[in-house]
Amino acid sequence: MDWPGRFGALCYGGDYNPEQWPQEVWKEDVALMRRAGVNLVSVGVFSWARLEPSPGVHDFGWLDDILDLLHDGGIGVDLATPTASPPPWFGLAHPDALTVTPDGVRLTHGSRDTYCVHAPAYRAACVRVARSLAERYRDHPALAMWHVHNEYGTACHCEHAASAFRTWLRARHGTLDALNDAWTTSFWSQHYSAWEQITPPRATQYLPNPSQVLDFRRFVSDAMLDHFREQKAVLRELTPGVPVTTNFVLGDWAPVNHRHWAAEVDLVAIDHYPSADPPAETAFAADLARGWAANPERGPAADPGPAPEHSPAADPSPATEHAPERGPAPGKPWLLMEQAVVTYTGPRMLAKRPGEITRLSLSHIARGSRGAMFFQWRASRGGAELWHGGMVPHAGPDSRIFREICDLGALLPTLKDACAAPVEAGAAVLWDAEANWALQSPGLPSTELDYTETVRQAHRVLYRHGVTADLVHPSADLSAYPLVLVPALYLLADADADNLRRYVSGGGTLVVSYLSGVADEHARVRLGGHPGALRDLLGIRVEEFHPLPPDVVLTLSPPDVLDGDQGEWDDQEDRGHRGDRPETGTFWSEHVHLEGAEALAVYTGPHTSGTPLSGQPAITRHPYGSGTALYVSTRLSDTAYAHLLGLKPAPVELVRRGEWLFAINHSDEEHEVDGLRLPPGGFAVRASGDPKP
Ligand code: GLA
Repeated sequence: MDWPGRFGALCYGGDYNPEQWPQEVWKEDVALMRRAGVNLVSVGVFSWARLEPSPGVHDFGWLDDILDLLHDGGIGVDLATPTASPPPWFGLAHPDALTVTPDGVRLTHGSRDTYCVHAPAYRAACVRVARSLAERYRDHPALAMWHVHNEYGTACHCEHAASAFRTWLRARHGTLDALNDAWTTSFWSQHYSAWEQITPPRATQYLPNPSQVLDFRRFVSDAMLDHFREQKAVLRELTPGVPVTTNFVLGDWAPVNHRHWAAEVDLVAIDHYPSADPPAETAFAADLARGWAANPERGPAADPGPAPEHSPAADPSPATEHAPERGPAPGKPWLLMEQAVVTYTGPRMLAKRPGEITRLSLSHIARGSRGAMFFQWRASRGGAELWHGGMVPHAGPDSRIFREICDLGALLPTLKDACAAPVEAGAAVLWDAEANWALQSPGLPSTELDYTETVRQAHRVLYRHGVTADLVHPSADLSAYPLVLVPALYLLADADADNLRRYVSGGGTLVVSYLSGVADEHARVRLGGHPGALRDLLGIRVEEFHPLPPDVVLTLSPPDVLDGDQGEWDDQEDRGHRGDRPETGTFWSEHVHLEGAEALAVYTGPHTSGTPLSGQPAITRHPYGSGTALYVSTRLSDTAYAHLLGLKPAPVELVRRGEWLFAINHSDEEHEVDGLRLPPGGFAVRASGDPKP
């Protein structure tokens, strides 16, 4: 695909929803966009009710005008298919296309995203509306990119979903015997003797089957991806040179496997709204997006579904786009498609601090984003998101926010050279959507397990110590990384465990944390001791888990404390030794036996007395081939984690790309790094030959 195509420059702009405003505002919008340096806007994301006010009746006039105005202003359009929110008439005509919750409640129109991707009427209508837009605007000079749908995220549990789920399960498991085995249905009398007996996980009396829940999550991602593919096939057919994407929603609840989706889009687009710790969360989101874009993997199709109007089966040319293959797909660019000028913290929406919009945008760009886009161009005066901010805030262009938007728009064109080389990463952190889903299952040994937070911690420790990390799937080629962190990778396939063994035996350093390699791909426990898939690599055997209550802090001592030597920790340089302070473990602990590894720390202190943990290994190290595999059986503080890795704090964010260095000071203090003096909140983008200020 021809990307960046017309965008040699970084993309700058946001969601533009002009249908909220009278026409006289549109001209001012375009003039302000030009002032701000905007070159791309996403139009029509939620416009279905305006484009098709009643069944089969279209009104494209307003969109024609907007596209013409934008084009005259030199602004490209990322044109959306409006399928994330069907109009009210659609739900009334096709109630079976409205979402059904696990409790069996059919939702009604009144918000957005109320659809069922398995409903034939909805699927057909989506292809129809995508086709009508492509037919009308295929030759419009403003058309730069297609934005299919918006933040795929609605899972439905209706009868259409049940039937599609069964089709998907047949493809995955082949036979009922295999499914019964994978789901361990012999427990609690769940054995299935016919496919028709299987349903999505719906409200039930007590704990649902975790393997069923996991498969349903896989299926939902695949089914939504089929919905995307159908629209993409139509858009590709009519506008073969125009990139097609959809904006990925991030967050724990996200029901899509982004890595599979990355294989299907022409560029990976993410929406990102940090909350508690915006700089670290931004680096995490950007590194995730870069990982998905660099290592996409095609997943299976869920269900060919009903033949859309323009069935790929009936027309072989777009079918090549539709027919999913398996396996790695080529790397892609990625883009921050939406961010906000405010910070959503849960209870409060906070105005971003002066310079914060610029710093966070720059962090995304340093980490590979092809630009910085926002939700939304002009803050709404009404509607559900009237307080979500805008590049033009309610106060209008004479405002701190709009001035910063203009400054950022002026900065971006100066960064082109700095963005030419790839981002350099000094470590990898493993991330897997399926491990996340499995760790969200009911019935685990602790209800407080939080996969994302565990991965975030590993990433944050590297980030705060100046190490740029790639977030990659356990199957990725790891050979280039000196260090790979494996946080709570509960679900681990045999082939991926082999990949980790290959990495370490080739000389790598692997740091595996608690609850990794415990379950197979069906979420069944690997027997004989944990971490089943990695025992030989780590040289240990975990006999039991001991989750800890919030107020319990275990002391981690050097192993020689058991010989009566109460000496301090040595501050040694090699990995696995920590600073001179006592370390602690919280949240989780395990009864670890050494089977070839050595203990770097053991559990001591009052909370362990009388338990099997007392004096047992807490952190271990095992030479394997030419490399080393460490195991951490408890949660360390960020500082202790950094000590274990032998890292020194970095006061500012640093990202290197070839000869270029991006340095961003998110703090309120001045810092000097690499001879660069950065004022509070300041940043610098420098080539190695540039004079240092
Ligand atoms: C996401 C959605 C937008 C909007 C914003 C709110 O990015 O795609 O439509 O809801 O969140 O900030």
